[in-house]
This record gives sequence, C-alpha cells and structure tokens, in this order.
Amino acid sequence: MPNVIVVGAQWGDEGKGKIIDLLTPEVDVVVRFQGGANAGHTVVIGESRTILHLVPSGILHEQCRCIIGNGVVVDPIVLIDECKGLHEQGYLPDPTRLAVSNHAHVVMPYHRQLDLLREESLGDAKIGTTGRGIGPAYEDKVARLGIRCGDLIDAKIFRKRLETIAPIKNQQMTSLGGKPLDIDELVATGTDWARQLESHICDTTLLVHQEMGANKRILFEGAQGTVLDIDHGTYPFVTSSNTVAGGAMSGAGVGPSAIDDVLGIVKAYTTRVGQGPFPTELDDGAGSHLQEKGKEFGATTGRRRRCGWFDVVLLKHAARVNGLTMLALTKLDVLSGLKTVKICTAYEVDGERIDYLPSNEDDFLRAKPVYEEHPGWEGDITHARSLDELPAETRSYIDRVTELVGVPIALVSVGPERSANIIIRKPF
Ligand code: GDP
Ligand code: IMO
Ligand code: MG
Repeated sequence: MPNVIVVGAQWGDEGKGKIIDLLTPEVDVVVRFQGGANAGHTVVIGESRTILHLVPSGILHEQCRCIIGNGVVVDPIVLIDECKGLHEQGYLPDPTRLAVSNHAHVVMPYHRQLDLLREESLGDAKIGTTGRGIGPAYEDKVARLGIRCGDLIDAKIFRKRLETIAPIKNQQMTSLGGKPLDIDELVATGTDWARQLESHICDTTLLVHQEMGANKRILFEGAQGTVLDIDHGTYPFVTSSNTVAGGAMSGAGVGPSAIDDVLGIVKAYTTRVGQGPFPTELDDGAGSHLQEKGKEFGATTGRRRRCGWFDVVLLKHAARVNGLTMLALTKLDVLSGLKTVKICTAYEVDGERIDYLPSNEDDFLRAKPVYEEHPGWEGDITHARSLDELPAETRSYIDRVTELVGVPIALVSVGPERSANIIIRKPF
C-alpha cells in the first residue's frame, strides 16, 4: 500500500491542509511528524472553515486515524482546545481516532514566554516567530531538558523532571526579565492536562508500524515549508524543526524504505510570514493583487503574508532536499486577472548568475531575481475540473512550471473549497 509524505515546498501556507483533506478519503492514517501549534492548516467545506494547528488534517474524515508523532512539540492547551472545537463541530477526535506520541515533547507555558521575551530582546534582528514557544521547546528537547507527553501522566515523574529543569530555566527566564517557574502550579496544570489527554497518549511508533503491517495507507503530514527547515532553510529565519521529508523518518519512527512518494505542495506564487530574505517579494500592484485576492493572512497569527512571484530556484532546492516525486500546485485561481505573470528562473548576486540558494543571509538579501514573463489570463477558473477547461495561457504557465522545476504536477487547486481541484494523477 502506498505511503506518501506531504511537505510544503516554500515558506509554509502552501495549502497543505486543503490537499491533505482532499487525499484523506483514500488514506487510512495521517501522521503529523514535526512542528507544533505554529502551523495553521485550513480546510474549507462549503461555508465552514476549520483551522488545524496540531490535529492532523485528516480528522474531518471519519474513517481516518490521526496520529501526532514523536517529532511534534505539543502544546496541551492548544490541543485540548482544538479537540473541543472539533467535537463541537461534530467530528470525534476520540482516543480511537487521535493518538498522541508519549515521546512528543510538551510546549510548556515557560516556552511560550521565552519565545516572546527572546524575540523582544532581539529587536530588529528578531525572527518574527509565531510566538508559540516552538524554538524554546525544541531547544529543551535537544538539551535533554524537555518534558515529554508521557511524563505528564505520572505526577511524581513530572515533578522530578521539573525540579531538575527549573534551575536552568530560571536562569534563562530571569535574565530576559521573566519570572522563575512555579513548580507546584506547573504540576497542577500538567496533571489537569494529563487527565484530559491521557487516553490519547501512547507509543505511536508501534501504532504506525501496526498500521503498516496491516497494509494501511499512510500519509505523513508536514508542517511549515522547506525553506523554513532548520538545516535546509533560510537560516536563521527558519523554524526549529526539520520540515523536509526526511523529518518524517525521525518524527514518526519509520525508515526511508517505507515511503513510496513525496508530494510537494506549492503555491502558484510565493508567500512568507515573518522576517528573512525573499528575493521575489513584490511591493507593487501585483503584490497587492496576490495578497488581496489570495487572502494572504496567517492562519495562526493573522499577520499579513508577504507576497511575490513563483521562484524556480527555491522549488528546485525543495525538489532536491525532499526528493519530491510529484507536486500539487495550489491557488492558481489567484493569478487570474493579472496582465503578465513572472517566473523567477535564477538569481543574480553581485552580477553573478546562480541557480541555487545563496549559502548565507547577506548574499541571500542581495540576490536579485531573474525573470521570464508570461501572458496572464482573465476570468474565473475556480470551476475548472480538468486541464482543458483552463485558458491556454494558464495551461502554458503550468507546463512551464513543470518543465522548469522538473517534477510532474499531480494536482492543481483552483479554489479554497474541498472540491475545487483538477486531479491529474492520484497519489493514493
Ligand atoms: P497550509 O498551512 O499549507 O495548510 O496553508 P494555510 O491554510 O495556512 O493557507 C492556505 C490558504 O489558502 C487557506 O486560507 C486556504 O483555504 C486557501 N487555499 C488553499 N488552496 C487554495 C486555492 O487553490 N485557491 C484559493 N483561492 N485559496 C486556497
Ligand atoms: P504552516 O504549517 C508559515 C514561520 C514564522 C517565522 C518562522 C519561525 O501553517 O505552513 P516559529 O514560531 O516556528 O519559531 O517561527 O517560521 N512559520 C510559518 N510560516 N506557515 C507556517 O506553518 C509557519 N510556522 C512557522 O512566521 O517566520
Ligand atoms: Mg498555514
């Protein structure tokens, strides 16, 4: 049975939630493998819009089991709230449908505080994080100072962990103007979280392997995007996890031989939230068109997303570091109404033309996009369900993107709604 990894190929918000929801009817299990509540994955069904931060985007389909893997950092407050919201909408994230890894690290309240305090102290050099405590939680994981979901269940173990951690965390907190940890309060809070989440917490690696053993179809859901990856992104303006396909191996506990395909989700243009280089960024009428027509506001923080043209240099990088075998091209409808559309095929750094990502921040900031121009198209394409229903110019744009990136397009998304798709090849 096919197992597919789905990753964002740009700076996040490519429409992963929508595409994963679209694929889920053919899928038995969806596993989130990294990131945390910094993610905001939107699924639109008719008038209803659901934004998922931690729960996998398969949850709106009843037959699908959803797993939050060991590589995710879990904020129990967000997770409990999200489960309540889903329950109220009639979806049942009960223990048989939603499992949370006992090895997933917990985003503690002090991680959120540290995230905000550190951003403040960085001033102009800030990253523009989502403020969800992601960096500090991953730091503690790697420093071996973290608390895992499984630790919450036994109050004695939890307290002991906190007592070990507190002296070091207190130094960090107070040096930035924060308060030291109140261990009794944290134990009380954690015990309450455990009461609400205990039935979901288990060894999800075993569960994933049981499902694979039973020949189930598994989709591994990435969060963020390739150039936000801690190793392969625009460091330091990145998130703190491996967002690339390789992250699914360690973040879910499977080997590369378990994977059949890697689907990259890519917007027909580019967006970015937060600070950092963005060579194709626009500050003209075309940029406003993309921002307004694409409703480009962050699903987690509500921040206005920066917008720019499609960047092939970025996409080729994504194809390499993820081993992409197919693409889903999203938000193509947003380009309708532009006189010309541009595709960036290379960068120029100090007069030298390159077709790979500059290796440091300074060069990246100086990189100038080299464009080819294509005629735009008019009219609403959101009702197209096959390629031949699209204007000739739109088809040429798709063909040119495929040719330049060198990865076949399996799906084209032409609107936010669940049904607004052109399916060329089914990944499952
Ligand atoms: P994700 O983080 O990758 O899941 O993406 P987000 O949900 O943060 O952002 C994508 C936004 O674009 C959401 O508001 C989606 O509803 C919307 N969207 C997804 N696909 C399309 C599309 O093909 N066309 C349009 N117009 N909107 C889309
Ligand atoms: P989804 O899964 C877009 C960005 C933040 C910031 C940087 C670091 O919805 O695509 P962090 O809070 O992770 O420490 O912030 O990463 N970022 C995202 N941008 N989509 C996301 O998730 C993001 N998650 C983090 O804006 O620039
Ligand atoms: Mg998002």
